[in-house]
Amino acid sequence: MKMEAMEVLKNRRAIRKFKAEQIKDDELNAVLEAGTFAPTGHGSQAVKIVAVQSPEYRNRVSALNASILGADMDPYYGAPTIVLIFETEGSYTPGFDGPAVTTNIVNAAYAAGLGSCWIHRCKQMFETEEGKALLKEWGLPEDLRGSCSVALGYADCEQPQPKPRKEDYIVRV
Ligand SMILES: Cc1cc2nc3c(=O)[nH]c(=O)nc-3n(C[C@H](O)[C@H](O)[C@H](O)COP(=O)(O)O)c2cc1C
Repeated sequence: MKMEAMEVLKNRRAIRKFKAEQIKDDELNAVLEAGTFAPTGHGSQAVKIVAVQSPEYRNRVSALNASILGADMDPYYGAPTIVLIFETEGSYTPGFDGPAVTTNIVNAAYAAGLGSCWIHRCKQMFETEEGKALLKEWGLPEDLRGSCSVALGYADCEQPQPKPRKEDYIVRV
């Protein structure tokens, strides 16, 4: 599927109901690769993207996020893939690089025909003992800083409509 860039940027919406069916490898690869081409301060690429697809790890990440949220629900809305975005040592612009990568990922997901939802609390998740245990099991440094996470899968709902944009969103001087 190929879409015009402006169409993607304006029509992507947060999806909060996913099919259980796993996405195809080429779809995942396209989305992750788009993340790696996001802008980063000084071009440091000081970001690590972790795609979680094993049901065991997917459910552990979901449970960890839910425990921070303090709610008995799946914060990833049943999505079979969770993408975790971390900032690494060497970032010139910590706090900015991870969200830049995440924005590419959610837009690329829509362009690839997938549903996605940006999910909060990644920073807190990987400050916990359980988060650090996961990093260790994945063979990743325990000092990676959680930045953002994304629920990824096939949408199991109609495409949501955007809210009207604020009248005073843009100022031209
Ligand atoms: C920093 C950030 C954190 C978000 N965290 C969550 C979240 O934890 N759960 C959720 O359902 N949506 C989350 N969202 C998605 C927003 O709620 C969504 O983007 C917003 O309502 C606008 O809808 P749209 O993306 O369809 O335009 C987050 C979005 C951003 C940018």
